[in-house]
Amino acid sequence: MASRTLLAGLMLCSFWALARADDNTTKKPVSTLYSDKLDTTFSINLPENSGDVNFFLSSPLFSWFGVGFSSTMAGSPMLLFYASADGKAVTVSPRYATGETEPAYNSTMRVAVAASTVNNGTFAVTGTCSGCRQWSSNSTTQPFILAWGADADFLSTNDLAARVKQHSGYGHFVMDVKQATGPGGTAMLLALDATKNSDGAHLDGDLQADTGNHGGLAHGVVMALATLVVAPIDVLTAGALRRWPVLNIITSTVMMAFLLAGMGLGIQMSRLYIATQQYRTAHQILGLLAIVALFLVAVLGVVYRLIVKSATKRGQQPPEKSGLLGKVHRWVGRAVWVIMLVNNGLGLQFAEASSTLIIGYAVLAAGVLILVGLIRWSIYCCTRHSREELEEDKAGIELAQLYAPSHHMGHGAGH
Ligand code: HEM
Ligand SMILES: *[C@@H]1O[C@H](CO)[C@@H](O)[C@H](O)[C@H]1NC(C)=O
Ligand SMILES: *[C@@H]1O[C@H](CO)[C@@H](O)[C@H](O)[C@H]1NC(C)=O
Ligand SMILES: *[C@@H]1O[C@H](CO)[C@@H](O)[C@H](O)[C@H]1NC(C)=O
Ligand SMILES: *[C@@H]1O[C@H](CO)[C@@H](O)[C@H](O)[C@H]1NC(C)=O
Repeated sequence: MASRTLLAGLMLCSFWALARADDNTTKKPVSTLYSDKLDTTFSINLPENSGDVNFFLSSPLFSWFGVGFSSTMAGSPMLLFYASADGKAVTVSPRYATGETEPAYNSTMRVAVAASTVNNGTFAVTGTCSGCRQWSSNSTTQPFILAWGADADFLSTNDLAARVKQHSGYGHFVMDVKQATGPGGTAMLLALDATKNSDGAHLDGDLQADTGNHGGLAHGVVMALATLVVAPIDVLTAGALRRWPVLNIITSTVMMAFLLAGMGLGIQMSRLYIATQQYRTAHQILGLLAIVALFLVAVLGVVYRLIVKSATKRGQQPPEKSGLLGKVHRWVGRAVWVIMLVNNGLGLQFAEASSTLIIGYAVLAAGVLILVGLIRWSIYCCTRHSREELEEDKAGIELAQLYAPSHHMGHGAGH
């Protein structure tokens, strides 16, 4: 009986010893999230009675990596990590997002980097953020967010306010901030062994690949189609096939639809980024002005056509000044087309497209412009003789002959 008690006591003791040894190693005030999908480790340590967050991040190189100290983008203090200008260290930029838009650099949060390296396509950084901590609980499931930029176009700058493009993916996670609270600081984080295990943290739901970041591409493609394919067809149907004005009405309407869709996508994109939210870039201003001008040009074409039609109906020559109207309509329409071709280039430049793409586009645009110019000019020359009789048909033939259903309107005006 006594020996049994002794044995049980011994076992209990050794169990306690084991448990305490175990305790000793896990009791460090750190919570760590490891994502195998991203091969990313994020650890925090929280000094008591302080608004500081000591952090450690190790991650493969993305164009940027972000951690937000809240459950949603909106209202979240964030840290964005990207390679420094020399590519050898990590820039840590404290930011604040007011919605699902590019977070702005926010100097009310201060970051001190204790150590950072970029090595063999991986970065590791340890530091302290003052002011990143907004929560005031000891929750074991405090919500956080993470997001990563593209696995290409790597940012490499010391600029804390550098432009970043929308994420390629994002996720939500929770951390045990109670476990992470205690002394140690960055020195302790630096001394941690590399780990591929979460401890006091886990992903909340799956990581989401972001499909919302193709708006810029769609905007560019739609605008390129509108100006390089639809507009030339429109100019040529107006010039060459003026006997079938319906065809030109269709191409004009299609073009306007393309331009409006492209503009819609552009406006949606503009909302997302700090640089574009104020509509102050040359690309945005020119683009909007061009579309407004095109509408005015279309109206001008319709008015001109109505004047000519009603004059013909009465068996009179159109008033002399209406010719000017037609000229303005034609030449402004052409000018707007050229401005749009140039503006596409500005857009590519603004989107930081590769110079190969920009030069390729410039060559293509110039080629289309010259080709259309030549074809249009030869049409002009071939129809020189019969132009007088066809004067009326020349009205509103240009680029923006939108909603100028020539025949119906002509008749309508005649009644
Ligand atoms: C230029 C920068 C950014 C833009 C334009 C942007 C935009 C957006 C948009 C439009 C959404 C809606 C969902 C979608 O379209 O896929 C979204 C969701 C989300 N973003 Fe961002 N984001 C940016 C940066 C960040 C950063 C730095 C983080 C994290 C540190 C982040 C974390 C999230 C999360 C977690 C969601 C899911 C919805 C939520 O919880 O709010 N984003 N973002
Ligand atoms: C427990 O931790 C202390 C300091 O953190 C260390 O000196 C000691 O050796 C550890 N004990 C064990 C059993 O690991
Ligand atoms: C800066 O961040 C703090 C939170 O850390 C936020 O309360 C404040 O509104 C932000 N300022 C701006 C201008 O966004
Ligand atoms: C560099 O990275 C590659 C692939 O990620 C890995 O195979 C290699 O061992 C790494 N080299 C060093 C020195 O860490
Ligand atoms: C969280 O826990 C720490 C120590 O465990 C304590 O000092 C602090 O007051 C607690 N904070 C809250 C908001 O409960």
